[in-house]
Amino acid sequence: MHSYDTPWDLIRQEQPDRPIAVCRPHLVRQAAEWFLTHFSGDTLYAVKANPAPWVLKTLYSAAMRHFDVASTREMEAVAAYCPDAVMSFMHPVKSRPAIERAYKEFGIRTFAYDCEAELEKIFTATGNAKDLTLILRVAVSNQGAEMPIDGKFGATAFETPTLLRDARSRVERLGVSFHPGSQCMDPFAWSAHCELLSRLITEADVDIDIVDVGGGFPVSYPGKEPPALHRFTAAIREAFDRMPLPQHAELWCEPGRALVAEGGSILTEVHLVRGNSVYINDGAFGSLYDAAHCDWPYPTRLIRSSGTPSARLKAFKLFGPTCDSEDVIKGPIFLPEDIGEGDMIEIGMLGAYGVTMQTRFNGYGETLDVVSRDAPWGSVFDTRNELASLDWFSRFQ
Ligand SMILES: Cc1ncc(COP(=O)(O)O)c(C=O)c1O
Repeated sequence: MHSYDTPWDLIRQEQPDRPIAVCRPHLVRQAAEWFLTHFSGDTLYAVKANPAPWVLKTLYSAAMRHFDVASTREMEAVAAYCPDAVMSFMHPVKSRPAIERAYKEFGIRTFAYDCEAELEKIFTATGNAKDLTLILRVAVSNQGAEMPIDGKFGATAFETPTLLRDARSRVERLGVSFHPGSQCMDPFAWSAHCELLSRLITEADVDIDIVDVGGGFPVSYPGKEPPALHRFTAAIREAFDRMPLPQHAELWCEPGRALVAEGGSILTEVHLVRGNSVYINDGAFGSLYDAAHCDWPYPTRLIRSSGTPSARLKAFKLFGPTCDSEDVIKGPIFLPEDIGEGDMIEIGMLGAYGVTMQTRFNGYGETLDVVSRDAPWGSVFDTRNELASLDWFSRFQ
């Protein structure tokens, strides 16, 4: 990968006919080091947020050694770039061949389940292995999350005690987990979920070896600035300490977004401007899936190779490159009013759920990866940048 000091340096030297995925490994490293230092338990990286080789290599070099995988492809990627890393298969619904390969080929011993049928499937597919760690995913309210993901997985409060008792006598280690929803802005959501788990563990009357408090840790987007991250880790530790657990019980978390969002952005080229519509070469079927389908707000800035853009901003909507009329980011996205063909728009905070969402629809969906050494949008992991980021957000919102 070529590397540059800033995106301006890179567009003077690279003019690819595709969007550029700007990678900032130093910011991924900073996030990883923060979690490994401040979360008082084990941090697993949720690979789904961004499985790119540069991300896995960066996390590994930052001493991340535990990965939450959800598919065979993710196992292959971790095995290729993170030798000796431990993987946990945290998808609550898996195919038998995927479980078998995980156990036999990748040495995975930790599996999530959320119902009796999945529990039996895991035992059968591993040949009734005696060395399993099973983690029961419990359904919790996703109130407080900007991107709720509830309603799909998780045992109900009614089912949980039986599912815990059924597994306890058959496994080496037993855990419980939940996911509070992505970009969860309320530290006390974790406290409430831990209290619920405490009640269910007491009702089941079993020893629990692991409590996995999921992902969901927030970072800063325009209009979505979370409380300081240490408030989350403190609330979680306090809640964990109040749980009815044996002395040896472990605390885990599995962030995706928080570890990688700041570390990536997309540089997309303007092909045409018509009124307040800007036509670009990335969109709803590429890296801008969440921007288009969930109206997710990302920071944006204009990158022009020479000349200064107008200081006056105008509200635009962005159309992606495919023929589908759903391929639009309604915004409003505020950009210099003289934006024109050949300008580049940098869309930030796309290290998580960005390139990983790409499809090949209409022949698009490929990016050129380059490294940039700057840090344009401030970081929740670096308090020195707080003022810069506030100033930036107030100009562009
Ligand atoms: C089981 C599990 N763990 C972790 C994550 C990562 O969540 P986030 O990116 O919000 O941190 C997800 C996201 O869907 C998930 O399903």
